[in-house]
Amino acid sequence: MQLREFSRRRRQLMQQMGEGAVAILPAAPLRMRNRDAEYPYRPDSDFYYLTGFPEPDAVAVLAPGRRNGEYVLFCRERDEKAEVWTGPRAGQEGAVETYGADDSFPIDDIDDILPGMLEGVERVYYTMGVHPDFDQRLIGWVNRLRSQVRAGVHTPGEFIALDHLLHEMRLFKSAAEIRAMREAARISAAAHCRAMRACRPGMKEFQLEAELLHEFMTRGARFPAYVSIVGGGANGCVLHYTDNDAVLRDGDLVLIDAGAEYDYYAADITRTFPVNGRFSRSQRALYEVVLAAQAAAIDAVRPGNHWNDPHDAAVRVLTEGLVELGLLKGRVPTLVRNERYREFFMHRTGHWLGMDVHDVGDYKVDDQWRELEPGMVLTVEPGLYVRAGSRVARKWWNTGIRIEDDVLVTADGCEVLTGGVPKDPDEVEALMAEGAGGSRRRRRR
Ligand code: GLY
Ligand code: MN
Ligand code: MN
Repeated sequence: MQLREFSRRRRQLMQQMGEGAVAILPAAPLRMRNRDAEYPYRPDSDFYYLTGFPEPDAVAVLAPGRRNGEYVLFCRERDEKAEVWTGPRAGQEGAVETYGADDSFPIDDIDDILPGMLEGVERVYYTMGVHPDFDQRLIGWVNRLRSQVRAGVHTPGEFIALDHLLHEMRLFKSAAEIRAMREAARISAAAHCRAMRACRPGMKEFQLEAELLHEFMTRGARFPAYVSIVGGGANGCVLHYTDNDAVLRDGDLVLIDAGAEYDYYAADITRTFPVNGRFSRSQRALYEVVLAAQAAAIDAVRPGNHWNDPHDAAVRVLTEGLVELGLLKGRVPTLVRNERYREFFMHRTGHWLGMDVHDVGDYKVDDQWRELEPGMVLTVEPGLYVRAGSRVARKWWNTGIRIEDDVLVTADGCEVLTGGVPKDPDEVEALMAEGAGGSRRRRRR
């Protein structure tokens, strides 16, 4: 992402804040995994969206109209000794030269400098509750100002949730963001294809996960956007399964929900396919229902439609399918009204997608499902999950199916960003057969 994209975002936010206001955004802290071992560092998305600054121990302050610079970045000082261990730091010079801050101070001086920046300000934009330690420090700075009120110090009158403004901006993707999301989608689709080609009965689920990660990194995505789900058989029915340590068995389906993060933007794809390369009759029947539900939902993604329209379309098609196959009994409209499908489909059909896999942005406006508008990106991911013990014929048991794509709302409809991996069952089988190099035995159950 280019520097001018970040500066455009800051300008847009500051215009909405107006003068007399200050926004404060702390970077996420480094987190420990276990003694001395850290998790890989990933800045908080709100912070990164406005700064493009990749280091921890930083705080961005936006002060529209401030004479000595509107964008102030507190960050670590250069430190020769520390840099021997953990690599170069931008320091104050880099914050200005490389990252476009108007001014920069050492993070260790923030206690002395930030309170002064709050003096005389009317409104403070800040997101409470995300970084509790920083919340406490901010309250401390404000209290310090309050204690000086008799000396004529003016304290901020209002604290305003920053996320309302910022998350509304993040919901609408710019051309640069869409380019990054297309790339994340392309890489992730290739990774799913690789997993389909590589799959063999007897592999461990995490060995299939290794194929995904290999493709992500080889193609330039350093990290997955979230922990990949690779669930064979019954594990495909566990919605947030991430153990990924069971053996993939001949005759089972495997559900893979995995996406790469590219330049801080997520893809989120799910495909479900037969471990041995051929769908059984009952697997294919349920699969076709999910696929039809997804097609109906994607068809409902267009400007003017509302957030719930794709979900409602999916629910209708899923319920019709469940009745047709005998998993539900009754009239479709009644079953939909009574939410009887929820035994087999217990999540929503999608979510916003962006820098966070479950991205920010309101789903309702004034208590109404919001209208879809060009520039929004969402997932479309209906599924059916039939667990063992369900009161349906045993042939359906341990069948977990989800099909998930990432969809951009365009001026006249939508664009599926993740079309690079097949979902038509014949195409899936053909791709898997390619991987087996003809050695996969052709059989039908
Ligand atoms: N990968 C998380 C989700 O599909 O919502
Ligand atoms: Mn997913
Ligand atoms: Mn998703």
